[in-house]
Amino acid sequence: MTDYKNSGSIGWESPSNIALIKYWGKKGNQLPCNPSISMSLKNSLTRTVLSYEPKGNGDQLSFLFEGKRQVSFEQRITKFLGNLSDHFKFLTDYQLSVSSENTFPHSTGIASSASAMSSLALCLCSMEEEISGVKMAEDEFYRKAGFIARLGSGSASRSVYGGFVTWGESNSFSKSSDEYAVPFSKYTHPVFLDFQDAILLVSSKKKEVSSSAGHQLMENHPYASARFAQANKHFERMLGVLRSGDLEEFIEIMENEALSLHGLMMNSTPSFTLLKPNTLELIERIRSYRLSSNVPVGFTLDAGPNIHLLYPKSEKERVVPFIDSELSQFLENGKYIVDEKGEGPQKIKM
Ligand code: PMV
Repeated sequence: MTDYKNSGSIGWESPSNIALIKYWGKKGNQLPCNPSISMSLKNSLTRTVLSYEPKGNGDQLSFLFEGKRQVSFEQRITKFLGNLSDHFKFLTDYQLSVSSENTFPHSTGIASSASAMSSLALCLCSMEEEISGVKMAEDEFYRKAGFIARLGSGSASRSVYGGFVTWGESNSFSKSSDEYAVPFSKYTHPVFLDFQDAILLVSSKKKEVSSSAGHQLMENHPYASARFAQANKHFERMLGVLRSGDLEEFIEIMENEALSLHGLMMNSTPSFTLLKPNTLELIERIRSYRLSSNVPVGFTLDAGPNIHLLYPKSEKERVVPFIDSELSQFLENGKYIVDEKGEGPQKIKM
């Protein structure tokens, strides 16, 4: 039991994640067409503080992003909260003030919807505990947070855990579910324990295609069923690789997933070419460096032009100078962000 409360403030910080097997295509109420797996980051976080009090005459929600009112976010969150009354029966009786900030810059290839929606979902689950006075079991709490986060942004469901996290049903992982994320970390090989992710900034322009429009492209895509079959196979192989530590196969699958995602966008109707000339230049250089140096470093991409360069920490002393000497000339203002595998969300002491 926790103390019963009817007003209070709760804070959570939650990470972004980078998908190794991509979720691209959804059905029903935010359910994925194929299983995905991601790595949660350590430094790329959203900090959200939620204050609640019994509803008066004002609006149900006030929302500040980095100290300023942001109407588009406020509308998205209002819609999200409006769909949660089945899961949080108390919600309509309360007035909420939400403020959030990111530890990373905008439009840099780091998925802010994953960190933002997961931190908000965690705050709502904590609010439920405070209001009801009933503490959930830890696994139940995170499962519910992942379920709620999913309703806001599919990939956000994976951000309620640290390490490597699955989302989406697969015969190769019996615990997996379409409804919520399931952590995979406890089964992983030590080589992945301290995996690094350097995010190489090719362009900070706003995304040309929103992810919901992107998922929609899969609805009538001529290669949809082949893609979902491929993703299922990749998912199964990736779980095997995360257990075995085979970095060559890890890189092969991860890069294939990234380029499959972009291939699907290129031959969608309408079509999107989100890769920039510098993205291709970087890909060629990463591949030829890997060949000549034998350093196990590989790339993945989100639905944008920026590259996530993944490698084991033991190679950091070789990879960082490689980025500085060969890759940074193709980056916007020479910029990149060094992040790594993180341990998952943290409740903020208020
Ligand atoms: O969670 P959404 O709806 O923003 O979609 C995420 C899509 C990708 O980032 C391209 C892939 C993924 O699995 O994260």
